[in-house]
Amino acid sequence: MVKIAPAVLMVDYGCLAEEILAVEKEADLFQFDVMDGHFVPVISYGASLIRSLRPRTTVPFDVHLMVQYPERYITDFAKAGSDYLTVHAEVCPHLDRTIRQIKEAGVKAGVALNPSTPLEAVDPVIREVDLILLMSVNPGFGGQTFFAEVEQKVEQMRRRLDTLQIRCELEVDGGINVENCARIAKAGASILVVGSAVFQSPDPAATVREMKRMANPLP
Ligand code: DX5
Repeated sequence: MVKIAPAVLMVDYGCLAEEILAVEKEADLFQFDVMDGHFVPVISYGASLIRSLRPRTTVPFDVHLMVQYPERYITDFAKAGSDYLTVHAEVCPHLDRTIRQIKEAGVKAGVALNPSTPLEAVDPVIREVDLILLMSVNPGFGGQTFFAEVEQKVEQMRRRLDTLQIRCELEVDGGINVENCARIAKAGASILVVGSAVFQSPDPAATVREMKRMANPLP
């Protein structure tokens, strides 16, 4: 089953808890975009948000660290209640050590690649990670348009994982909507991160249900 992870970045922060609880039944995970204003131009939120929301829902928290020096924050986000912690290969010169640090903190480990980063960047840790995130927009902002060329990256990574018989999650994030979700799932994604298409729709819960149906067509 392809899973849908609503991206909390795109909620109305004035009623953040209400908005995520409104899609709680449909969400397979909630994705949190942590941004430091250095790796990406925007600042979003820190571990305190994860800590405050953790008691409100049992839906897994998929935390995407779009930050320089992610190794500095692993313990804090792990203790706050993250289920996945994903770091960018572009800012991890010792990626294997950072992935090991996440797993030693008792959290599932993910590695993310920006659209222009070659798939080979995950090779050193491809057998260690629980999740590979392929960004389909340049990170930092929601509401962008899906980079069509990333669909081929998804297909290539899916072939690579299947050939190596690796069963980690293959997650895609950025510009995913009702129109393209089926194609991205067919390309091989197992988790679709969706922000604006869900939280800017008239009925977010219905949108998640629709996208899940489209991403998992009946045989
Ligand atoms: C970009 C963010 C967004 C977010 C999803 O840095 O990572 O991709 O998760 O937002 P939409 O679905 O609006 O692109």
